[in-house]
Amino acid sequence: MQTPFLVPTADGSLTLFQPEVGEHYHSKHGAVQESKHVFLESGLGYFLAKNPQPSVHILEVGLGTGLNFLLTADYAQKQNLQVDYCAIEAFPLPEILLAQMGYNQYIQDAIWDGFLSKYQAAFTETTFISQGINLKVEKCLLADFVIDGQVDVIYFDAFAAIHQPEMWTTEALERVCRYLKPGGVFVSYAITGNLKRSMKSLGFAIEKAPGAPGKREMLRAVKLV
Ligand SMILES: C[S@@+](CC[C@H](N)C(=O)[O-])C[C@H]1O[C@@H](n2cnc3c(N)ncnc32)[C@H](O)[C@@H]1O
Repeated sequence: MQTPFLVPTADGSLTLFQPEVGEHYHSKHGAVQESKHVFLESGLGYFLAKNPQPSVHILEVGLGTGLNFLLTADYAQKQNLQVDYCAIEAFPLPEILLAQMGYNQYIQDAIWDGFLSKYQAAFTETTFISQGINLKVEKCLLADFVIDGQVDVIYFDAFAAIHQPEMWTTEALERVCRYLKPGGVFVSYAITGNLKRSMKSLGFAIEKAPGAPGKREMLRAVKLV
């Protein structure tokens, strides 16, 4: 993949544009706003409201800049929530670019410093980032993804189906959904007929949730017990 370049979004936070795919990493209506709404509030927050617990396992498809991880870690630390975060990323970004995103202004310093200094290590082994927060990144294509254990919440943050249809097939979705516990929550910023059909066929109850600014709806799916 080509190296993406920085682009400002409407809420003042930065995103990246990947010319080879022809898409941004986040919503142009607001990167931080989208991440908080879709993944943190509609995903993790929804799961914890239904299943209060002191620790949670999260799986993200597409770590990218790490924004979803950083906002999740910041929230978790303030709530005394332990987070084991596993992410898939086939095309890791250079650390210099991660540092330029400026996401330190939205989170605690210890998380930002831990993420930047231990980013490389997290590709090799489960890595302590900051109090209660562990990160492991699998550098592989989604099609080759395998892990031990199960997770509570999946953040599905692939580039849109129009640009990367192979990430949204029933087979690709099954590759990550097999690791979700019964009652676990899958969220994505997208909602299409194909996605809804695939998730139903994989044994999920699906729900149209209000979308982030600029999008009417998004998908939330709960794995049936
Ligand atoms: C929409 S961006 C993710 C944005 C990210 N969550 C963030 O907050 O910056 C999609 C990500 O999926 C990664 N990706 C693309 N194709 C992939 C594949 N086949 N397997 C795994 N990751 C892939 C890209 O490198 C990119 O980081």
